[in-house]
Amino acid sequence: MASCDIGLIGLAVMGENLVLNMESRGFRVAVFNRTVSVVEEFEAARGKGKNFVFAKSLEEFVGALKKPRRAQIMVKAGAPVDAVIQQLIPLMEPGDVIIDGGNSLWTDTQRREKALKEKGIHFFGVGVSGGEEGALKGPSIMPGGSKEGWAALAPIYTKIAAVAEGEPCCRHMGPDGAGHYVKMAHNGIEYGDMQLICEAYAILKAALNPSAEEFAQIFTDWNKGELDSFLIEITSRIFTKKDPETGKAVVDIVLDKAGQKGTGKWTVGHAIEMGVPLSVIGSAVEARILSSIKDQRVAASAVLHGPAPKPYSGDRAKLIEAVRDALYASKIISYAQGMVQLGAASELYKWNLNFEDIASIWRGGCIIRARFLNRITAAYKANPTLKNLVLDPFFADVLNRTQANWRIAVTNAIGNGIAVPGFSSALAYFDSYRSANSPANLLQAQRDYFGAHTFERTDKPAGQFFHYDWLS
Ligand code: 6PG
Repeated sequence: MASCDIGLIGLAVMGENLVLNMESRGFRVAVFNRTVSVVEEFEAARGKGKNFVFAKSLEEFVGALKKPRRAQIMVKAGAPVDAVIQQLIPLMEPGDVIIDGGNSLWTDTQRREKALKEKGIHFFGVGVSGGEEGALKGPSIMPGGSKEGWAALAPIYTKIAAVAEGEPCCRHMGPDGAGHYVKMAHNGIEYGDMQLICEAYAILKAALNPSAEEFAQIFTDWNKGELDSFLIEITSRIFTKKDPETGKAVVDIVLDKAGQKGTGKWTVGHAIEMGVPLSVIGSAVEARILSSIKDQRVAASAVLHGPAPKPYSGDRAKLIEAVRDALYASKIISYAQGMVQLGAASELYKWNLNFEDIASIWRGGCIIRARFLNRITAAYKANPTLKNLVLDPFFADVLNRTQANWRIAVTNAIGNGIAVPGFSSALAYFDSYRSANSPANLLQAQRDYFGAHTFERTDKPAGQFFHYDWLS
């Protein structure tokens, strides 16, 4: 009997937790998995007595859905999503909605949306953030697709999403790939945040060598102020964990080789393609890549020498404060760059993205949730067409106030031979963006010298181009 409000295909960790969340909010949910034994295992372990239909075939799954049918796919991004869609198509009808809740590439979502539209089926690309716990208790949800499809999904998604300041962390982002694009940008920002936290750790470690307990305290203190966020909170907790085998702090036995699944690279690649500087996230992706070539780094460390380690002789509290300010300022730059990227994509694809909505649904449930997103929400509420977050009066003031400490932190790192690509590229962006005059006059002269590429003159109206005969 068609009794289910929604169905979900793919009972891996995220899928399982999402359906439990949906069921706990009063929805009847059909579940299906390609390997049918997974459905049985789920039923036995977590589903017994709950409001689920445990489907043993795709036909049974679709047959259990109320119309318009809502079928959410939670499988690995890429070809597996296309495979499930192809199997669903003959079973669905015009007006039904197929949802992809994975971290799919937005252009795949655009392609799928277009193809399904021809069959009258709404396709939704939905970003879901918050990891396992978020999926279960309330994630941040970023849906992209048609208005009609959204009408069918809104009652469910707004109920299962996290709540921040009394509002669900879920709003319709825009058509076709908008939801997945916003989720990708979220992940890019997540990469940036994580890298910046690691740089703060690296500077303090080299200069002050705090114990794991001291680090836990530093991050706990930071989490009480404007840096208050999920990632700072988990960082403070990480430092409290001891390895039972060695008695050492777990963080000290974790190998320094970072993994990545690809959303960070996608974010940076597309930003560059659109001509948007995304240096902080770019640094974060590159830092992960460099971390992953551990063997080369070990070999190079025997050949290439940095400055001799110099313990910090000044006031420890002052350096900690400087690093905190540098982290906050760099984070603002990273979000500013990310928002500019979203603006460019919105224009390119005519998505009409709403930045207040985006900042507001990132306030809860997702990995980058943070207190300062209230400020970003307020900035776009006050000025929906804000060109760059750094121009918002609140953020401009923070950057102006923290820049002295920001420079102290970066200078300290450079002096100690500690790489801080996130902090320093953020500072370089700040210094470039606020400069009325750049050295690109010389660059234009070089281009004109070797390639007759022409240049505009400071003393003539814009749009007139000149060539100088450099060789004469
Ligand atoms: C989230 C996360 C989640 C995940 C990514 C990034 O929003 O819940 O961003 O999507 O952590 O897969 O993972 P990588 O660090 O492996 O790229």
